[in-house]
Amino acid sequence: MTLHLNLFIYPGGHHEAAWRYAGSEPERVMHLSYYAELAQRAEAAKFDAIFFADGPSLMENVQYAARVKPEPLTLLSAIGAVTERIGLIGTASTTYSQPYNLARQWASVDHLSGGRAGWNIVTTGAPNAAQNFGLAEHPVHAERYARADEYLDVVTKLFDSWEDEALVADPASGLYADPDRVHRVDHTGRFFSVAGPLNLPRSPQGRPVYVQAGSSDDGRGFAARWAEAIFTAHQTLGSAQEFYADIKDRAARLGRDPGGVKVLPGISPILGSSQREADELEERLNELTQPAYGLGQLHRLTGVDLSSYDLDAPFPREVLDTGGERSEASRFQLVVDIIQREKPTLRQVLHRLAGARGHRVVAGTPELVADQIQLWHESGAADGFNVMPPYLPGGFDDFVDHVVPILRQRGLFRTEYAGTTLREHYGLDRPASQYTHPLEETA
Ligand SMILES: Cc1cc2nc3c(=O)[nH]c(=O)nc-3n(C[C@H](O)[C@H](O)[C@H](O)COP(=O)(O)O)c2cc1C
Repeated sequence: MTLHLNLFIYPGGHHEAAWRYAGSEPERVMHLSYYAELAQRAEAAKFDAIFFADGPSLMENVQYAARVKPEPLTLLSAIGAVTERIGLIGTASTTYSQPYNLARQWASVDHLSGGRAGWNIVTTGAPNAAQNFGLAEHPVHAERYARADEYLDVVTKLFDSWEDEALVADPASGLYADPDRVHRVDHTGRFFSVAGPLNLPRSPQGRPVYVQAGSSDDGRGFAARWAEAIFTAHQTLGSAQEFYADIKDRAARLGRDPGGVKVLPGISPILGSSQREADELEERLNELTQPAYGLGQLHRLTGVDLSSYDLDAPFPREVLDTGGERSEASRFQLVVDIIQREKPTLRQVLHRLAGARGHRVVAGTPELVADQIQLWHESGAADGFNVMPPYLPGGFDDFVDHVVPILRQRGLFRTEYAGTTLREHYGLDRPASQYTHPLEETA
């Protein structure tokens, strides 16, 4: 069973105070070279892909955090030119974009990279995005997922609108494309009306790998129908196993091969040559945090302003209204679970979220981190991981230099790429065009 590893790149690193940590190069987060070097490092380590998150609004309080970065599709196109094998996964919203444009952008990245594109499909959790698109209100959770479902139906038709055999390009006969193999999609639905065809031929992977990152009931339903890789956040083995089993089961009930849906939780490894050294590093990073930033993040996630509460008193659980509509439902629940399970102070909650926004932080020796990765992988909780270094580039260098060799010694992680496309790295089939007659496919 191959373990899949992505490098989840966040400017400065995933710890919210990483940019203040020595060696994290915050002045370079708008430079191509910063990301190109990380991508080339991940490729040299034979990672499956690099991943960029995104939101069409300034979500973070930039007064305290270096949370600015280039737009993913633009950045991935540039990185595609200076790499050869590493998968290129980026986020784009179905709530704040139009299917025809996004389909041709992703098909272009797939063509230009020789088949390495992956699209993290999000409905956008940040309510403040609405004002950037002329909307008074951020659409509610269920509405966003309903739109996303139709959106995927449309873009999949567009990606398939040129059959693989459509492109002829025969100067002698003068036939460039076979018109019988280029199809209008003529989609009319509740949210979209799109004629098609797409204005470029079918890409090397047929379509980008569909990635998704929502864990609510709606999110899981959407993922079971469309996702080929699922990013998720879990603090405990038990909750990761429950999610893994549920997603695979939902996909199977829709007639899909559960092996065609890869589940990748996030892991933020804080490494030391001893447990004590790792704990001290985590402490140093936490000491660099600024409560005002963490309280702002907590307010965005829970809807509650806790800035007047004593940071070192037990977290005031009673203020959390667990009944309301949540923009990021599963992430909110994850915070509630931490509070109920660990009875922390407010400051301890801030430090837990400072590490990786609710993703699992594992502080320890390379052996301990490798053990945890192997345990989750072999216990039906993960097909792989989004590796989220606490600070960059050093935190990633340490993972590659000290943890990857252990995973290889244990026969868990590749030493060489077997293929050239992201689908080949993930062991995913290349989908046929829905317009190609099944009989012709086998001809
Ligand atoms: C690894 C990971 C990456 C994510 N990346 C993004 C992102 O780039 N942009 C975004 O708006 N939401 C992102 N999300 C949030 C999800 O899209 C979604 O809003 C969140 O998981 C809550 O989904 P739910 O309401 O279906 O539970 C990410 C979530 C995870 C687990």
